[in-house]
Amino acid sequence: MANLTTEFLGFQCKNPVGVSSCDFGETEWEAGRVIEHGIGWLTGKTIHKIDGPHHWPRPFFYSLKKFGPDLKDVWVCSQMFSHIPYDEWMSSEGPKIVKKCHDNNVMFIGSIGAAGDDADVWSTHMRDMASIGVDAIELDTGGPHATFGAELDQLDCGAPQAMDPEKSGKIIGICSKAVDTPIIFKATPQCVNQAAVSHAVANAGAAAITANNSLYGTWIDHETGTFYGGPYAVGGLMGRPWQIFSLAKLLETTASLKGFPIIGVGGIFTWDDCVRYMMAGATVTGLCSAVYSRGVGVLKKAIEGMDAFMDRKGYKSTKDFYGMVVDDFGYVRDWPREEWMAKKSPILPKVYEDKCTGCGTCETVCPYGAIAMEDGLPKVDEDVCMGCGWCMGHCPVKDGGAIDMIRTDTGKVVWTGRGVHDKWVLDYPQA
Ligand SMILES: Cc1cc2nc3c(=O)[nH]c(=O)nc-3n(C[C@H](O)[C@H](O)[C@H](O)COP(=O)(O)O)c2cc1C
Repeated sequence: MANLTTEFLGFQCKNPVGVSSCDFGETEWEAGRVIEHGIGWLTGKTIHKIDGPHHWPRPFFYSLKKFGPDLKDVWVCSQMFSHIPYDEWMSSEGPKIVKKCHDNNVMFIGSIGAAGDDADVWSTHMRDMASIGVDAIELDTGGPHATFGAELDQLDCGAPQAMDPEKSGKIIGICSKAVDTPIIFKATPQCVNQAAVSHAVANAGAAAITANNSLYGTWIDHETGTFYGGPYAVGGLMGRPWQIFSLAKLLETTASLKGFPIIGVGGIFTWDDCVRYMMAGATVTGLCSAVYSRGVGVLKKAIEGMDAFMDRKGYKSTKDFYGMVVDDFGYVRDWPREEWMAKKSPILPKVYEDKCTGCGTCETVCPYGAIAMEDGLPKVDEDVCMGCGWCMGHCPVKDGGAIDMIRTDTGKVVWTGRGVHDKWVLDYPQA
């Protein structure tokens, strides 16, 4: 059995899998339901003293699964910060959750939300939260709800506090000076300059960053000609596919702030999603909407799956795969241009006729019309093919497929449909 123990902000988490801020960190009862599935850490539901639109009394969760199998785990979530009054939570559920977590060797991170950047407000909240014995405090600076169509200066809470390096740094500076407890900044994927915000909060004293809170979305029921679900149109967008975006945003931080402690969150449903986030530089990883969509059992499955994966790969500790891909992170804009782009592709699909079943999928999906089935086998028009790899990625034949991408000058395989494409462009004379 692999050793999943992961050090995070001085706490030896028994494993890196936890639950990010939501209902499961609001009451002792809810916390118990996830703790019994073996998690290493838990973040509390965001506690606050804000009146008005931030304080939504009742959650609306509406699943989109009836609109098609591709929307299976996708849902829209409308829930604001905690409905439990601040003082009541601080004197009752808060201390009980801390005890429950510590009795079970689970790290507990308290979560606080506040509007604006008032030093007194934030400092008092930090001291209150620290006084109940939490192991760290996360600021819900990333929540999407306050940005729903509002001017930033009207609803200065959640995501608007995580988009501007100056403002984010100011809030973190106030909080980190107020207490000795480590302060965690929660990022929003809506931020277009996540690297700059991450540097600002790290310089201002943040001990870690949680990346990310959610995006937001809406859905229309075409049969009724109305919005679907909750009585208002827009809510947090939940689901595994959103991981693709959250992961890229996380890498904006991890590639520029190497080794900084990170809680990876966003669309994590399975053990391999956790591994993916850790390879991208997350120290620990959190599930949230997966626990709602698929039940608390996903947590144990994620922990056991990671354990089995580490055994299979021979990883002795989570450090063995932490940050593995970070140095290779890049954007298409930084990639060299090639002379041949408009002419004939130097990369072409090679079809292994003995493996090909003649299903014709490659012909169907080729966006350039470069493949035609002839006598039950795909024939590639080399003058039309762009070498994009789409046919390879769609080939349904098991164990590597019936197509590899090869370079025409050497015949060398540059992509087999697993891992990353060979950096072949670098060997060609550049434009
Ligand atoms: C029902 C629900 C309630 C949430 N409440 C909070 C909250 O109070 N504070 C917060 O920082 N994030 C909150 N979140 C956001 C999650 O912690 C997480 O950042 C986000 O959902 C992305 O992770 P996921 O894709 O695994 O759900 C909530 C999410 C859900 C689904």
